[in-house]
Amino acid sequence: MVITDSLLNQIDSYLKENLSEKRYRHSVSTAVTAEQLCRIFSIDSRKGYLAGLLHDIARELDIEQLTSLSLKDGGAIRDSEKKHPVLLHGRAGAEMVKELFKITDAEILDAVSHHTTGNKGMSSLAKVIFIADYIEPYRAHITQEYLSSLKGKSLDSMLKIVLNSILEYIREESLMVSEISLELLKELENERKE
Ligand SMILES: [Fe+2]
Ligand SMILES: [Fe+2]
Repeated sequence: MVITDSLLNQIDSYLKENLSEKRYRHSVSTAVTAEQLCRIFSIDSRKGYLAGLLHDIARELDIEQLTSLSLKDGGAIRDSEKKHPVLLHGRAGAEMVKELFKITDAEILDAVSHHTTGNKGMSSLAKVIFIADYIEPYRAHITQEYLSSLKGKSLDSMLKIVLNSILEYIREESLMVSEISLELLKELENERKE
């Protein structure tokens, strides 16, 4: 897809108006981090920037809005999503992006849709957004040491490290782990070690 400056400006203004200042800042920072990761892994960096900018567009909606938008993708609401409806903001976000900005690029929609949990067989762009969301510099939990542990790693190795960090947090907080995060972990563990 052609990503024009005018589309990016339109999205930027929408997010500035509709998200809290903190989340807007996180969205831009995720976009910049995604752009940098894309350059490392030879992925379309403009797409990375756009998907990063969009990923949390639905993060501040209420449960009813999250549920009704998510159901539009044709999937059911999973047990983990019933328990933690906030998990739906990826799926809901992908629907919003289609409706508001007429974006139909499957990779971008997939990256937005799956950024909260990851999923089996996710695209490289979706992997980049999942990682960027977790490591962007405004994230309080990210240390220089953590970033160094990712340096020079393959995209899948980075994804595995980040996914394990997220799962560790979920377990510590006694939250319910998403079924599809576990499927992704299994897939990554079955891959040959690099
Ligand atoms: Fe998110
Ligand atoms: Fe995010």
